[in-house]
Amino acid sequence: MLSVAHKPVLLKEVVTALAVQPGGRYIDCTLGGGGHARAIMEHSSPGGQLLGIDADPEAIRAATLNLSHFTYSTLLVNDNFVNLDDICHRYNFYPVHGILLDLGLSSLQLANDPRGFSFQYEADLDMRFNPNQETTAAGIVNTYSESELANIIRSYGEEDNSYRIARRIVQARPIHTTLQLAAVVEDAVGGRKGSRIHPATKTFQALRIAVNDELDHLEETLRKTTDLLGIGGRLVVISYHSLEDRIVKQFMQRESQDCLCPPRMPVCRCGHKASMRLINKKIITPSEEEIEQNPRSRSARMRVAERIDRNAKPYEYRRNRKPDFKHRGFSLN
Ligand SMILES: C[S@@+](CC[C@H](N)C(=O)[O-])C[C@H]1O[C@@H](n2cnc3c(N)ncnc32)[C@H](O)[C@@H]1O
Repeated sequence: MLSVAHKPVLLKEVVTALAVQPGGRYIDCTLGGGGHARAIMEHSSPGGQLLGIDADPEAIRAATLNLSHFTYSTLLVNDNFVNLDDICHRYNFYPVHGILLDLGLSSLQLANDPRGFSFQYEADLDMRFNPNQETTAAGIVNTYSESELANIIRSYGEEDNSYRIARRIVQARPIHTTLQLAAVVEDAVGGRKGSRIHPATKTFQALRIAVNDELDHLEETLRKTTDLLGIGGRLVVISYHSLEDRIVKQFMQRESQDCLCPPRMPVCRCGHKASMRLINKKIITPSEEEIEQNPRSRSARMRVAERIDRNAKPYEYRRNRKPDFKHRGFSLN
């Protein structure tokens, strides 16, 4: 597994968006092979520090090798990023200059991983990032009701044929492997119909999202980032499908508005104060050159926001844009 290299997506753009600076302190919530983390460390030297998180112990192993030059300034934690606040408090790693989430799967996980993330090779239907959690893809496929399966496939895969696929899955149970499931889905939708995209793509995405509870975890984690960023610190999120991107977009838009009352309300009643400002109003996507070199980057969409002081008036904020990182202690084990 480690022989496959994961090419970090939008690498230069991530370093720019995080405004990486020497001596800065960063969190990579989705460490993967450590490609982004390594670039962050190179640009934050001397003195930079990084907390890297990944739910997958294989990713931690790969990133440890990739970051071997930076052993003393990096702390790699095998955990779910939904526990971000606890992890940061445990290691006193806050406030930070930047937080990165590069969502989804790494090439290491897609290439021949025995956990069956891809339908391109035979493997058990597992799909857990964290091998210790209970729910597996086989568990969902073989025990959920037809309507529960259809719901998952429709909501998380945005698949129009969800009911047909769910019915065929229930008829074909038990299903234990990736190729078995891919064949059942292909059969349910009547073959490939000349498309280059495999008909099981959306069903596999839906199952993976359900197994790892990806969308709820993303929403909860985004909410935790604001309190961990120092004033002027950056939040950078790369997503790979519209469900993730919608959550990121809505979060950043909400957090960059002072009042969330319906427009017809004459006075604000919610008292909501903006905690961020948007750095890019339009999403940042890979160049054609990057897509050519790394076709997996094709669907990447990056959004960036900057933490602001909730209590500062806009003009004060503009005058005092330097991150304020002095007010809390910091130690790295
Ligand atoms: C696209 S890869 C990141 C690649 C990385 N940026 C690099 O340059 O190598 C996404 C990683 O996030 C991890 N991941 C996904 N959801 C997670 C979660 N909720 N908590 C922790 N890690 C997660 C996956 O295990 C995977 O290794």
